[in-house]
Amino acid sequence: MYPQIFSAAKEVDQAFLIILGFSVLILVLVTAFMLFFLWKYNYKRNPKAADIEGSVWVEIVWTVLPTLIVLGLFWTGWSSFKAMRTIPEGSMEVKVEGRMWSWLFVYENGRKSANLVVPVNTPVKLVLDSKDVIHSFYIPAMRLKWDMVPGMETKAWLQSNSTGEWDIFCAEYCGLKHADMLALLQVVSAEEFDVWLNEQPVDGNRAQALMEEYGCLSCHSFDGSEDAAPTLKDIAMRERMVVLPNGSKVSVVADSEYLHKAILKPGAELVDGWDDEMPPYGDEMTKEDVDIIVEFLLKGVRVEHPGKMVAEEQGCLSCHATDSSEDVGPGFGGLYGSLRQYVAADGKEMAAKVDENYIKESIVAPSVKIAVGFEDGMPPYEDLTPDEMALLIDYIRSLAGNK
Ligand code: CUA
Repeated sequence: MYPQIFSAAKEVDQAFLIILGFSVLILVLVTAFMLFFLWKYNYKRNPKAADIEGSVWVEIVWTVLPTLIVLGLFWTGWSSFKAMRTIPEGSMEVKVEGRMWSWLFVYENGRKSANLVVPVNTPVKLVLDSKDVIHSFYIPAMRLKWDMVPGMETKAWLQSNSTGEWDIFCAEYCGLKHADMLALLQVVSAEEFDVWLNEQPVDGNRAQALMEEYGCLSCHSFDGSEDAAPTLKDIAMRERMVVLPNGSKVSVVADSEYLHKAILKPGAELVDGWDDEMPPYGDEMTKEDVDIIVEFLLKGVRVEHPGKMVAEEQGCLSCHATDSSEDVGPGFGGLYGSLRQYVAADGKEMAAKVDENYIKESIVAPSVKIAVGFEDGMPPYEDLTPDEMALLIDYIRSLAGNK
């Protein structure tokens, strides 16, 4: 069983144990009585059937005792239910949105996340809502399972006395990818949480502009090509062989320290197979600029496009592939600029060129134009900010060549 990291978990476990205990006890009693009566009142011992008069005392006992037991069981269930329902005053609030087929967690400062990150030992109030069909928010480690009905806000809370990671599931069958509706509950220290909550996503544009400015990109590529220098594609934490100035070879991991060194003193750890041609940037770059570039390189995913983060957060990628393969929805690859056959509201097949407006409409009101061969299953995404919308459209545009 999961550790009892949530105070209400104790009560829930206790309720289950008590109910199970009584059930076993009653099973044993009933079986024992049954066997006893089989033996005592069998035909051999009682060839002639006797007329047994009722007993008031026995009737009182077997009415009152079960009533007390059932009331007691109700009470244990009720008190654990109350512990789960009584949200402490001043809890930190997180909005939980379920939709086909992913989760979105929205914090009070507007931070959005695909995983539920919370500080340890802090009560967290969850405001649950569904965008489309009924889902069920389930964290086994918290003994928490709450149905999410579209248009009906329900509230729950949790608090963990231990840091760690636990799974979040959807416990209500909600369609094709129900089983993929997964997320993580990440319980971190208060300090870590503070940093996480207020961290600005690395500004990929800024870092890329800097790298353009300093000329990094005239030799290093992001797409894997290695004409003049090692590529920066997927460089974060990659293991590589380097040659030290004394000629010996060692294997290093491209972490922050390594990347700093590689920019400031490239000759000190030279990637095996490359000449010592890159000038050291120690004098030229400010410390801040180096930090921005290194951070950017370490968050490799964001190198691709800042809009990809939006797509991940919003769960687009659980139904749309980034190439042109078909999933629940059409793939994003090669979509932009293509001619799409779609079914209009009146059922007629039409064609349209995929441009900014087409994509915007497909996000905000997906039912208006249904791509031929697909079903009308996507919920409307009306609450994207204009920035998020612009990034998302730009991201899809950037995938135009990704067939
Ligand atoms: Cu959502 Cu199952």
